[in-house]
Amino acid sequence: MSFFKILQIPAVYLLWQKAFRKQKLQPFLEATSSAPFDRILDIGCGPGVNFLSLPSSCTYIGVDISAEYIKHASLRYSSGQFLVGDATQLPLNIGKFDCILINSLCHHLDDQACCAVVSEAIQHLSSDGHIHILEPILPNSFSVAGLLAVMDRGRFIRKEDEWRRLLEPLLTTEHYSTNFLKVLRIKCYHMFYFRGRPR
Ligand SMILES: C[S@@+](CC[C@H](N)C(=O)[O-])C[C@H]1O[C@@H](n2cnc3c(N)ncnc32)[C@H](O)[C@@H]1O
Repeated sequence: MSFFKILQIPAVYLLWQKAFRKQKLQPFLEATSSAPFDRILDIGCGPGVNFLSLPSSCTYIGVDISAEYIKHASLRYSSGQFLVGDATQLPLNIGKFDCILINSLCHHLDDQACCAVVSEAIQHLSSDGHIHILEPILPNSFSVAGLLAVMDRGRFIRKEDEWRRLLEPLLTTEHYSTNFLKVLRIKCYHMFYFRGRPR
């Protein structure tokens, strides 16, 4: 089993994410601090990594394809609702959400599946809601971030212009920014944060 494969074990993934979880979610938390939400759908929620950082006042539903991750999250975080499901075909009966978070899912999916996920998100977005996407960027030049991107479990880490080409036909951009996730000042992941609405 390669190092990145062992991240499929929920406890190992949570440990690995300890270094990055807060940095990764920071732009989303900053954006939503001045525009709070009531109901959040966390698509590709993993073992509940994001749940820890969200306001306890919101209603939370997380969906992930991994039964093992969902079992782990359900046992740990009883105030959230965690469902096993495919993000390209979300369960119909989960209702609408004013906040939809897609954090580090799309780099596991090819273009077609990625578009299907965003289309599903749009179907479940309330009229005043926003879709928030955080994903890693493939750097143009050799770097630690480039090396980690190539070694990642997700086979579809895209360059910045490829992400834009994928998302812009579906969503209007209200905010776009990038940042580096660092450990000991080493730039490990180049990430973007996108907030938008359906076209
Ligand atoms: C890198 S993890 C991200 C987990 C969490 N969102 C985070 O930020 O740490 C990617 C997640 O996407 C899930 N996933 C991959 N394909 C999926 C699909 N088609 N539907 C739902 N979840 C999927 C994986 O099981 C995994 O939990």
